[in-house]
Amino acid sequence: MNQTAQASAAPSVSAAPSAAGDPSVPGDPSAEGSAPAPSDGYAPGPTARTAFSTAAKTAAGAKTAAGSGAADPLRLALIVGSNREGRFAPVVAGWFLDRAGARDDFSVDVVDLADVELPTVLSGRPGAAVHAELAKVSPRLGDADAFVVLTPEYNHSFPAALKNLIDWHFTEWQAKPVGFLSYGGVSGGLRAVEQLRQVFAEMHAVTVRDTVSFANAWRQFDDEGRHRDPAAPEAAVTSMLDQLAWWGAALREAKSHRQYGG
Ligand SMILES: Cc1cc2nc3c(=O)[nH]c(=O)nc-3n(C[C@H](O)[C@H](O)[C@H](O)COP(=O)(O)O)c2cc1C
Repeated sequence: MNQTAQASAAPSVSAAPSAAGDPSVPGDPSAEGSAPAPSDGYAPGPTARTAFSTAAKTAAGAKTAAGSGAADPLRLALIVGSNREGRFAPVVAGWFLDRAGARDDFSVDVVDLADVELPTVLSGRPGAAVHAELAKVSPRLGDADAFVVLTPEYNHSFPAALKNLIDWHFTEWQAKPVGFLSYGGVSGGLRAVEQLRQVFAEMHAVTVRDTVSFANAWRQFDDEGRHRDPAAPEAAVTSMLDQLAWWGAALREAKSHRQYGG
């Protein structure tokens, strides 16, 4: 079931931090406390930029696999944490996948929450329909050596669908490193990331220090999904992936000798 690879879909992009808290930006969460409707301008951008097709993921994945010269690349699962209609997530995902796919130390699988419909009612004895949904995603999480979680910020936290995916699993996260790629309004998703660190600690996962974040994300990318000022985010993603590679290799090696005892 592992659709390994599965990298990029979205257009190639790059990133650079922008000024936070500009009240002229539609949906700028400077006006916090209000619960915006999806159509309130929080995530502007042409529809074309939000398309994240399975075909594109597969094509990018093939590119990733073909480009890999490493003997045993780490299996990296990118978890796309927004399933919101009209989401901005594919732009950021595409930017990331272009960079991760250019490295030979990772093979990338995209776990897109828009393709997963797990119920919010948890069960130790799920029925056939839930089993079918879990079968789409659980083996891929289990196979991963490392994760990058792509999260927007909703009301100072991360999306409910992402928490639901996390809660449906346990051993799949254990003794694996997690990196964060975040975006949003004024905060660039960093408040969501700090909350996710607490959640993943409970799952016996190891979160890496460096993150990549895009404040007022929709202002940082052009209509083709290219970042307008890429130097800083390029450096940030390199640091994050280097840390993820170190932890991923170290933990994979350790587990090959001794099962994690958590
Ligand atoms: C319900 C909701 C709440 C939001 N709350 C915040 C927030 O607290 N802080 C922030 O910086 N941005 C906030 N935003 C802006 C989002 O981070 C931004 O729209 C982002 O593009 C959402 O990701 P998505 O389009 O991939 O779903 C919020 C957006 C929505 C829809």
